[in-house]
Amino acid sequence: MEFIYYGHSCFQIELGGKKLLFDPFITPNPLSQSISLDSIEADYILLSHGHADHVADLVPIAQRTGAMVIANFEISEWAKAQGIEQVHGMNFGSTNFDFGKLVMVPASHSSSLPDGSYGGQPGGYIIQTDGFGFYFAGDTGLIRDMELIPLYGPIDLAVLPIGGNFTMDVEDAARAADFIQCRRVVGVHFDTFPPIKINSQAAIEHFASKEKELIVPKIGERLNFDR
Ligand code: NI
Ligand code: MN
Repeated sequence: MEFIYYGHSCFQIELGGKKLLFDPFITPNPLSQSISLDSIEADYILLSHGHADHVADLVPIAQRTGAMVIANFEISEWAKAQGIEQVHGMNFGSTNFDFGKLVMVPASHSSSLPDGSYGGQPGGYIIQTDGFGFYFAGDTGLIRDMELIPLYGPIDLAVLPIGGNFTMDVEDAARAADFIQCRRVVGVHFDTFPPIKINSQAAIEHFASKEKELIVPKIGERLNFDR
């Protein structure tokens, strides 16, 4: 599985033969100015919730790529109102796509859209495909619901927020990794804004002290993960 980091909580994975882009937020991010929006490819764009730091670049990327947008029902209706035609609205539950089985699971956060309208419930996504288990938590605090995630199958890679303040911090992300039963985590949602600046080396060492691996990606970095 290939993972490309675009900064904040925006990343692309290639899984089940498809390119899946999550939470596009690049042009407003001062740390992501090295990323060209037009270079980003996507077959699907998945949104965790409606906050601007997760949807800001949705419309131009969706329109250029023709990618199918997957989001909760309220955000999917908002996306249609922005002129995006390929939209799949869902809610907590699972469905099958050509890239694998997708499960939308709860996150503990909030979800208003950039125009202030209601953004439905914030969520995360599990994908199980070709024997690979992937989980993206979205923006969330630590919740016991994460203990349900391995019931869908083992998680080989989890993408968790680690910046604190708006989401889990590093210590809670390590606790989440226990709940998920996953020892390999990519951290996101850090350093973008002053309240979420972290010490990356200390974060990596904290995970190591719990016998887990934390990857703190660099913007533009490509990583490859096996099972
Ligand atoms: Ni948020
Ligand atoms: Mn956020």
